[in-house]
Amino acid sequence: MSHHIDKKTRKYSTNSLLIHGKFVTKKWDFSHHVVPPMSTSVTYRLDSIERAARGFNNFANPAVFGHRTPDPIYIYERLDEPVRGMLEDNLAFAEGGDCAITFASGMAAVSAACGIFLKSGHEIISHKTIYGCTYSLFTTWYPKYNINVRFTDMTNPENIRKFVNNKTKIVYFETPTNPTMDVIDIASVVKIVKDLNKTRRKEERIYTIVDNTFATPFCQRPLLMGVDLVLHSLTKNIGGFGTDVGGAVITRDEFESPLMLYRKDFGGQLASKTAWTIYVYGLPTLSMRVKRQQESAKKVVEFLRHQEVIEYVRYPGIEGTRDYEIAKRQMIDFDGEFAPGNMIAFKIAGKPDEAHKKAKKVMNYIAKNAYTLTLAVSLGQLRTLIDYPSAMTHATIPLKEQPSHGIIPGLIRLSVGSEEPKDIISDLSEALSIIK
Ligand SMILES: Cc1ncc(COP(=O)(O)O)c(C=O)c1O
Repeated sequence: MSHHIDKKTRKYSTNSLLIHGKFVTKKWDFSHHVVPPMSTSVTYRLDSIERAARGFNNFANPAVFGHRTPDPIYIYERLDEPVRGMLEDNLAFAEGGDCAITFASGMAAVSAACGIFLKSGHEIISHKTIYGCTYSLFTTWYPKYNINVRFTDMTNPENIRKFVNNKTKIVYFETPTNPTMDVIDIASVVKIVKDLNKTRRKEERIYTIVDNTFATPFCQRPLLMGVDLVLHSLTKNIGGFGTDVGGAVITRDEFESPLMLYRKDFGGQLASKTAWTIYVYGLPTLSMRVKRQQESAKKVVEFLRHQEVIEYVRYPGIEGTRDYEIAKRQMIDFDGEFAPGNMIAFKIAGKPDEAHKKAKKVMNYIAKNAYTLTLAVSLGQLRTLIDYPSAMTHATIPLKEQPSHGIIPGLIRLSVGSEEPKDIISDLSEALSIIK
């Protein structure tokens, strides 16, 4: 170590030298890296009180806070961090937004996107089918803060008008929805909310939030259609490999400060090591993975549609359906091609009890025997994952209430992975044969 240490620092003990090394070293110049460095530091050297004050002023003052300069003053990991910042720039670019703010999970992103607008007395209008934990956030926690959620069927966007009142603050939906694959007409929702906002004062404005996790920015970019905020679980196809949990909110400049302030004060920031993985492996391979999975999904859908034991298949790419007509307008990939994605829902035929029993049998058979299908929650990985929402991802919704939220007995969710489609179909075929 001594050759790194100049005369002035040599007077210190080995222990201190091992902690500090050289204060200034050219080894911290990463500008020649081809792959960006995995920088991870909880705290940042501030050089002078004057520079520290400039940095803190930015973070302490909500009015000026957050707008990133090309030469940011990094202070503390929870506030801002370079690798996370690089990922955020690329996520914003992918979604067509001004800025992205990442979080420790998709749920942290949901909480922040809603949290910056909500106060006691407000209401959210939500599509009736949403991810189970978002449902739980809306129905278990928000009522405690005197925030109520009105669920409606947004496949008819006009239904929004039935629930709107002067307390409404957020219109919230996923499209396609988890797990039913409802396709919601983004342009129509935006038009209705814009129309409603015309007669509301600024502080009564309603904001639209879309959870774009199922589609990914490769297949759909709601901000370009006028939505206010888009959010993602980065854990899914953006991360892509099933190794890291994360979330992001992507939006216009005006919401960057409140979102960064929210993250600073509520916590839940994305770890820089995780940001690095998603930045280096996940996002750059998103297109190629989703393209491949989508091609396979189309083949799997064709197979499923011809099975007598299956009552129906929901996939935005099925021609002649209402979903298809809407999806054709809004699910468009980076190259301008129709992109219905890799997620599928299908229902085992039969009355509720019978459908449930058969689905359970198929799922248990898959869990024990299928090589390319894995019974597991989550989605958007190299591996094909299969989920029984009623008992798994959407078990947070009381069984009796599940049908009114679209979670019906026999409904199965499939996230098509990157395996050979013929292998996926062969495993599905074998599993379905046991209920024929
Ligand atoms: C549509 C959707 N939104 C949000 C989430 C929450 O994401 P996370 O598990 O990263 O918190 C999920 C997770 O399954 C999801 O499917």
